[in-house]
Amino acid sequence: MEKKNLDWENIGFAYHQTDKRYVSNFKNGQWDEGTLTSDPNVVLNECAGIFHYCQECFEGLKAYTTEDGSIVTFRPDQNAERMMNSAKGLEMPPFPKERFLDAVDQVVRANEDWVPPYGSGATLYIRPYMFASSPVIGVKPAEEYQFRILCTPVGPYFKGGAKPITICVSDFDRAAPHGTGCIKAGLNYAMSLHAGMAAHRNGFDENMFLDPAERKYVEETGGANFLFVTKDGELVTPKSDSILPSITRRSLIYVAEHYLGIKATERPVELAEIGEFAECGVCGTAAVVSPVGKVVDHGKEICFPSGMEKMGPVLQKLYDTLTGIQMGRIEAPEGWIRKIK
Ligand code: PLP
Ligand code: COI
Repeated sequence: MEKKNLDWENIGFAYHQTDKRYVSNFKNGQWDEGTLTSDPNVVLNECAGIFHYCQECFEGLKAYTTEDGSIVTFRPDQNAERMMNSAKGLEMPPFPKERFLDAVDQVVRANEDWVPPYGSGATLYIRPYMFASSPVIGVKPAEEYQFRILCTPVGPYFKGGAKPITICVSDFDRAAPHGTGCIKAGLNYAMSLHAGMAAHRNGFDENMFLDPAERKYVEETGGANFLFVTKDGELVTPKSDSILPSITRRSLIYVAEHYLGIKATERPVELAEIGEFAECGVCGTAAVVSPVGKVVDHGKEICFPSGMEKMGPVLQKLYDTLTGIQMGRIEAPEGWIRKIK
């Protein structure tokens, strides 16, 4: 086995077709045994439920090469559970947790040469997804589904790596109250595309979506949750029923409280108060912890004291500890690291 000859430091967040992917089909009320395949293409009937009524959900997690050369995944059980929850919310058959964990292991092992080396700044992004594969024409759930896992090596999600980004307050809503914002349904991302491109056209890196009922509270970006740090060095994260329960955010809250002695509070955060915070960032599997230097609310600039050059000190500590755990430099809480090799 030899590592692929990629420029690991500069691969960006892009799709590279790797050697193997996992596929399992749901038919006649059950999942088949599943298999690895070399074929990256999916051939479906023109009337498959995914195409018309967007019955699809997905996950995102990463495999890491640790300091001692092992290959591990980070809290894949949490992704398995969240995907089961997403599936239920879309009337799809949940893919069983133990099978999910085993399938992730199989995909990573089969693509070992694609797992970026320790210290390269890149990781192997793993994308489990599930969609309605049988024809439906009336609006109803399909009868057949396909669960797949692909993987691709990735670098930092935001161009510029650790440089603070600029975010604009969006006029669009990402998710409705009592809607699908709290599950990882592809349709939420379709909703965010126009808003995302509008933000880019106006020179912003990302959107800050507000709560759609009152447009008063901070929700999240199209692909990451927000983190704020008070002037006293405490972590504050927005609480809302319509944001995705980020595994990274929940892990950072644990790390803050149990590793760093930093108080962490999850509560509704008003847009009107964010100028009081010392640091701001976004977090997620893809984003890890990315600093936000500035939020622009319809021309009004909210600049965080941490500035536009580097991550603020508290977020930096959180980032260092979390990535230290993921890369095997810091001892992980029980059950967080799944060793694959
Ligand atoms: N919010 C959204 C909308 C996301 O797509 C993601 C990415 O998965 C996150 C938050 C972060 O979640 P996690 O930390 O589980 O990757
Ligand atoms: C992830 O962080 O895994 C996501 O799914 C976010 C996406 C924008 C890449």
